[in-house]
Amino acid sequence: MEAPKNHVFYRSNKWSYPKIVKGQGIYLYDEKGNTYIDGCSGSAVANIGHGNHEVAELAKEQIETIAYTHLSRFTCDPIEACARKIADLTPESLNHVYFVSGGSESTEAAIKMARQYHYEKNPHSQKWKVISKRHSFHGNTLGALSMTGITERRQVYDQMLINFPKIPQFYQYRNQWSTDWYHTSLQAALALESEIQFQGAENIAAFISEPVVGSAAPGVYPHPVYFEMVRELCDEHDIIFIMDEVMTGFGRTGKMFACEHFNVEPDLLCIAKGMSAGYAPIGAVVASDKIFNTIMTEGSGAFKHGHTYGGHPLSCAVASKVIDIVQNGLVENSKERGRQLLDLLQNLYKLDFVGDIRGLGLMIGIEFVCDKENKLPFKRDINLKQRVTENCLKEGLVVYPGSGTYGHTEGDHILIAPPLIITEDQVLELYKKLEKALLTTQESLRKEKLWISSLSPSHQQAMYRQRL
Ligand SMILES: Cc1ncc(COP(=O)(O)O)c(C=O)c1O
Repeated sequence: MEAPKNHVFYRSNKWSYPKIVKGQGIYLYDEKGNTYIDGCSGSAVANIGHGNHEVAELAKEQIETIAYTHLSRFTCDPIEACARKIADLTPESLNHVYFVSGGSESTEAAIKMARQYHYEKNPHSQKWKVISKRHSFHGNTLGALSMTGITERRQVYDQMLINFPKIPQFYQYRNQWSTDWYHTSLQAALALESEIQFQGAENIAAFISEPVVGSAAPGVYPHPVYFEMVRELCDEHDIIFIMDEVMTGFGRTGKMFACEHFNVEPDLLCIAKGMSAGYAPIGAVVASDKIFNTIMTEGSGAFKHGHTYGGHPLSCAVASKVIDIVQNGLVENSKERGRQLLDLLQNLYKLDFVGDIRGLGLMIGIEFVCDKENKLPFKRDINLKQRVTENCLKEGLVVYPGSGTYGHTEGDHILIAPPLIITEDQVLELYKKLEKALLTTQESLRKEKLWISSLSPSHQQAMYRQRL
């Protein structure tokens, strides 16, 4: 019998999508009987693993109680309980949870909140620009994409995007300043100061940063001096500091929120992904007392924004349960298993094409190069990231590929971010699969004589000269 026609508009026709029929713990199972370790939790989402019975039971109960309430007219217990839980966990002044349905909605809502904060203080305020960074990701909707610093994702839509200023990332492995962590972070913060001067503080509404970079340059994070200086600059110039913890929040980096690593408190905290660990779509912006009071108490009293599914009772009930589960030892596990994995991964430096390995907790990035000494990227048409991903899948391991770390359009990397429930033995299992897949990749690159850089010989010469 002919297979029914598939009407799904997938993301790419260059990928053959295995059909997953079940997930349990850190494992995914496809229709052909293959088993995979979900080594990236989807995209750092499935933090408590798959097939959690407690969450399933609670979801059923919640659906039977109430299908939906609109947040503009009603409130209900799951929404209030979830907000209370988040306010208790987030840094001190972050007490007001504005619910949305995902990460992009969260960063979009945050910039509108920042703008409305300035407007409430002064309706003639010119503060509207948002400074963000190259090698950053804040989502794919137009406002979020306007802040995102990944050329490949922006190019097609360029004319439709808001021309927000972009400054360099705190990217120790690749930057124009230094190979030293502290100095890179310091210079990256000074770049913010310089951009504020250039644009004029009177035009800047907000600055947004991931604490540990996700898909754009996975696992990259700064010395604490960076956020110390960012906080000072934002305070000095009345600029709202938005921390994008969509990927890092809820234990991913070995702390409940990654801002705790840096002892810094943003004005707005964007969260999603691990908030419900994939069991229901949800996100939120957690606002500080300052922002909330300016808009809601002293100002107009209404945030001019909202989506139909913001504060969905099912999503909020699920998120509350997931947060309880994460609080029950998973943050600590993320820290310990992350250390174990990062230690094991050091062995991969023996491979000729592994350039950099970095990360915090269970959020680890590996960057590939065709020339370690000069950090040159492979030729783009080799599509190294896809080769690595396919070889990992053959070994039964799912990783999250990306590119754009060299310059803006070259370079290959993967993100490793398994569920936070991963055990010591499973970390070892993951490592062995990855090592095998990378050895296979190395072998095929050699056999096919693909060990060449995407840069022209004169560009390479310039690189060498720069190094000398
Ligand atoms: C840091 C960060 N911000 C925002 C987003 C966008 O989230 P979503 O895909 O849920 O819209 C992502 C998604 O990967 C992310 O990693």
